[in-house]
Amino acid sequence: MLPNIDFTKTSSYKYLVDHYITLNEKTLKELFAEDPARFKKFSIAFNDILLDYSKNRINEQTLALLIQLAKECKLDEAIKAMFAGEKINVTEGRQVLHTALRNQSDRPVIVDGEDVMPKVRAVLAHMKEFVNQIVSGEWKGFTRKEISDVVNIGIGGSDLGPVMVTEALKPYKTRLNLHFVSNVDGTHIAETLKKVNPETTLFLIASKTFTTQETMANAQSAKDWFLQSGAVEADVAKHFVALSTNEKGVSAFGIDTKNMFEFWDWVGGRYSLWSAIGLSIALGIGYDNFEELLKGAYEADEHFRTTEFEENIPVILGLLGIWYNNFFEAESQAILPYDQYLHRFAAYFQQGDMESNGKYIDRNGNRIEYQTGPIIWGEPGTNGQHAFYQLIHQGTKLIPCDFIAPAISHNQIGNHHQLLLSNFFAQTEALMNGKTEEEVITEFEKAEKSKEEIEKLKNYKIFEGNRPTNSILLKQITPKSLGSLIALYEHKIFVQGIIWNIYSFDQWGVELGKQLASRILPELSGADDVESHDSSTNGLINQYKAWR
Ligand code: F6P
Repeated sequence: MLPNIDFTKTSSYKYLVDHYITLNEKTLKELFAEDPARFKKFSIAFNDILLDYSKNRINEQTLALLIQLAKECKLDEAIKAMFAGEKINVTEGRQVLHTALRNQSDRPVIVDGEDVMPKVRAVLAHMKEFVNQIVSGEWKGFTRKEISDVVNIGIGGSDLGPVMVTEALKPYKTRLNLHFVSNVDGTHIAETLKKVNPETTLFLIASKTFTTQETMANAQSAKDWFLQSGAVEADVAKHFVALSTNEKGVSAFGIDTKNMFEFWDWVGGRYSLWSAIGLSIALGIGYDNFEELLKGAYEADEHFRTTEFEENIPVILGLLGIWYNNFFEAESQAILPYDQYLHRFAAYFQQGDMESNGKYIDRNGNRIEYQTGPIIWGEPGTNGQHAFYQLIHQGTKLIPCDFIAPAISHNQIGNHHQLLLSNFFAQTEALMNGKTEEEVITEFEKAEKSKEEIEKLKNYKIFEGNRPTNSILLKQITPKSLGSLIALYEHKIFVQGIIWNIYSFDQWGVELGKQLASRILPELSGADDVESHDSSTNGLINQYKAWR
């Protein structure tokens, strides 16, 4: 059972309300001037990952109170409940055990009286055998040619994780070319099919439920295309495999269940890249590297499970997020990787975080009076600097940012990496210190500007600074360090969901749109005008019908 505590009624919350008022008067610059040991105090090293959270609007007392808050909300009990396989996904009546998928210990993980680890290991062994057959070229297509291209068809959690990881780990690429089709817009599958040859293409139909409209439509179109190439139904087995929990759905689609890689309903879609859903990753980077990814995640799990809150990265990240979300009223959180390979990292955690913590009903079933999950967004640096950083520096909104960078690049070309990292360091410093009126005037005077000109322009050039950032520096982006990084962020989401007293592992909010779309679909076929909706929806549908 998860604890059920309204965090705004705890004594630490009340202290934090008062503390916020005094701390808010201090700037980050002042906090650093007062305490030269901030970096040492507010940074955590874990394996080859360094989290520096000293550029946050906190002092030791803030941290102590936030940790007290986590304790009052019984975060420790919640962590135990998740790892122990309790049914903490209450509204779906399920366990939350993505951690079992990467469990490298010999600890059993019990689900309904059964240790699931043998099943997990059996699927991994199946994946390993399959990946080795495909990568080595031993597996042949219907015209006896080797597989050269893999198309993963899936959406949401059955797409974003594999896309993000295979992009992030491109330096580890096998000889296979990977493609991802997610959108039901026919353009996505059509453009992908133009790039591949049916004789040498393997399709992975990735869907936990095997009922998702987009994935089923894309899978059917892929199968039709394949069969139009001269292949026959019996050849489907050589070119289509399924990654799913739904055996019946898989065989109804025409995929031999021998070619099904199973996972289970205790794996949430947005936490599923560690499961059979990761088959595209294993094909893309090789099975051994996929195992390294799991190992990295396992080490982060152990860090989360066993480390005191003061030194626990997901706990600290989660609490800092709550500090800004619920006290500073920050509405969003930017994730800014200074690594081109991580260009889908923010998009991945947009689903991970927003689908998990975008909830307004608490664990008592009541409407919540406080803010829950923030808007997650971001793009890689330095591109973002030339797009939206203006608003982060001088806009009216407070946007806490996570800066992420590897110390070692996979592409040592000239001084590119130094250029990149100089920007990374400069941005967090600039966001913290800003630029004072004095500094602006001195700069103008050096440039021999007139008094009038200085007076006219100076306010535009002043930066208030005092904008908080976390810096996450990794030695290098490797399968293992990436596995750890992802798992740390996953657990941060968990920490926040526990404190906000919501259920982080369901996603009822995506259902309504799906239901309405299936109601509207048949209405789009006939020639008659539609009158069953509000005037806007009717008007749009009827205009569509007139134009198509
Ligand atoms: O968008 C809702 C959702 O249920 C996600 O949680 C999930 O990752 C995605 O759809 C895909 O679901 P499935 O893997 O069952 O096709």
